[in-house]
Amino acid sequence: MTGLPPRVVGRSPRRVDGPAKVTGTARYAGDQHVVDPAHVHLVQAEAARGVLSGVDVDAAVALDGVLAVLTPDSAPRLASTEDAELAAFQSHDVAFRGQVVAAVVARTRETAREAAALVRVTIDQRPHDVHLSADRDDLYAPEQVNGGAETDTWRGDPGTALAHSPFTLDQTYTTAWYNNNPMEPHTTTALWLDGDLVLYDSTQGVHTTRAAAAEVLGLAPEHVHVICPHVGGGFGSKGTPHVHTIIAAMAARAVPGTPVKLALTRQQMFSLVGYRTPTVQRVRLGCDADGVLAAVALDAVSQTSRVKEFAEQTCLPTRMMYAAPNRRTTHRLAALDVPVPAWMRAPGECPGMFGPEVAVDELAHACGVDPVEFRIRNEPDVEPESGKPFSSRNLVACLREGARRFGWADRDPTPRAREEAGWLVGTGVAASTYPVSRMPGSVAEVRWTGPGRYLVRIGAADLGTGAWTSLAQIAADALGVDFNDVELRIGDTALPPASVAGGSSGTTSWGSTIVAAVEAFREEFGDDPAEGARARAGMPDNPADGTYAMHAFGAQFAEVRVHRDTGEVRVPRLLGVFAVGRVVNPRLARSQLVGGMTMGLSMALHEHSVVDERFGHVVNHDFAEYHIATNADVPHVEAHWVEEHDPHTNPMGTKGVGEIGIVGTAAAIANAAHHATGVRVRDLPLTLDRFL
Ligand code: MOS
Repeated sequence: MTGLPPRVVGRSPRRVDGPAKVTGTARYAGDQHVVDPAHVHLVQAEAARGVLSGVDVDAAVALDGVLAVLTPDSAPRLASTEDAELAAFQSHDVAFRGQVVAAVVARTRETAREAAALVRVTIDQRPHDVHLSADRDDLYAPEQVNGGAETDTWRGDPGTALAHSPFTLDQTYTTAWYNNNPMEPHTTTALWLDGDLVLYDSTQGVHTTRAAAAEVLGLAPEHVHVICPHVGGGFGSKGTPHVHTIIAAMAARAVPGTPVKLALTRQQMFSLVGYRTPTVQRVRLGCDADGVLAAVALDAVSQTSRVKEFAEQTCLPTRMMYAAPNRRTTHRLAALDVPVPAWMRAPGECPGMFGPEVAVDELAHACGVDPVEFRIRNEPDVEPESGKPFSSRNLVACLREGARRFGWADRDPTPRAREEAGWLVGTGVAASTYPVSRMPGSVAEVRWTGPGRYLVRIGAADLGTGAWTSLAQIAADALGVDFNDVELRIGDTALPPASVAGGSSGTTSWGSTIVAAVEAFREEFGDDPAEGARARAGMPDNPADGTYAMHAFGAQFAEVRVHRDTGEVRVPRLLGVFAVGRVVNPRLARSQLVGGMTMGLSMALHEHSVVDERFGHVVNHDFAEYHIATNADVPHVEAHWVEEHDPHTNPMGTKGVGEIGIVGTAAAIANAAHHATGVRVRDLPLTLDRFL
């Protein structure tokens, strides 16, 4: 960064926000002190498709303490309805079960909730359809998939290559519908001050929320102030604004002079904040007797809503993982009467590595090649579909180091060969990957605050990842001062703008911007700054961006035990080795990787949003029934990384650690379960009935 070896980057200072969080003094969006707030509770549609024919609010309004009720009949018109998800109360159409049809504002949270239950909603119901299947005849090809990626790709002649391959695989895999469940529910505290809107919002990007709120409400962005110092998790569900934030602003306007608080209930989160679309993945592979792939094909089907398109980029990892001259990938969508899908930790890569990584295990087994060795034999020299060189690619090192640490060499490859006290024991492996992303739009400011002391300002977000700490580390090294001599400010639109905390892009985008601001500061003030010295810089372009393919890689190893009689599945051991460039803060990076792997275990064994197609909603919409791995499910998870020096990703040489941990975990567990039992499960989650 300064040409000097890093002094603070690479060390593990504790979270600067840790004491405030564990002592309960950190203010989340719902904890902000505002004077005498009112509370908002939402009323949701109880039909998946139809037209609102009546919203009778008389009983609700009559309740003591009710201040206002918003409905499509009474709510003011919004300036923009282009984003249908945010167009609260602008239409009488019901597009999914759980859509907000009214909002009650009352003196207390309890009154608001009671009054909401008194709102009589009548819906002229139409037949709905929430059934995802690859056999639907109305599947369509979106113009592009998320991130602007191509919908379909084609190289060589996969059909002929498959026909001539001595070993082939043609299987269909499915991943389930998953709901983002951060600990902190989505919450907004809203107030109007002299015509300006102030939002304390639980968000992965204050500037993103500001831009959306300003557009929808018809305000100049400088009249919208979004503040979010702390977030209790998001996993992508706070990466794009959702309708409750707009409704909070509308509700505050409906009760002039009164701030409002709106906290979604856990159950409401299951239809209002996005979720991971289920996927159907047809994988076809062909290889020779040595396990060298000749053809790779993936046809992925996922769902979107009827009112707003979300095209999960399921095939992206297949386009860059393994060498093979003949390849094909396609994405198709079914537009259903469902809530709008959105981001959930490693969208694209997480579901998109399940089918292919189980398929690789199946094919390796079929041709008698060890699955670690199989992956190594198909390691590409350049990114397979783009032909670009990798800025660095250390998948092989991860596989080898993982195999060594895990004790892979001792493994008898025969399925169902090991039984201990009624438990069938197996081990499995899968690869993982995640792209290095850089998002435009950030600006950082550096201010001199006294001899050797600096203030660094950028509107970045810390959704629990540790950005408060890691960005200060990067700033300290860039400035050549101690960690404690940097004061960082993030999480407020009063600060210079920043891109969203998404796509594991935060450290790359904000860190590069901070380094550029320090350089601008040096250029202007040299080594002798004085009172009032400050400099700003925007995120610099990375000349390597178009030239190199930049991805993090990893190898996941799992031990699985399946009970011979009951089918109960346990995962006593998970071990991941990752190549993620330079690690800014090992304590925080390990936490991200272990957290991702744990979420992958949860996906493999438990998580599954069960849709009742008769009614069109997720029936297990709370923590009693939507099972997430608990401590007892996760006995031993280890995350390691290999030394990796990537000169191309950014000035720090980082690659992002927030999402890669979840990628491949479920496949490693499914592969281990096959090794344990001889039963190949191709549909998540791996519930006990599959093994009986
Ligand atoms: Mo992440 S799903 O990109 O917030």
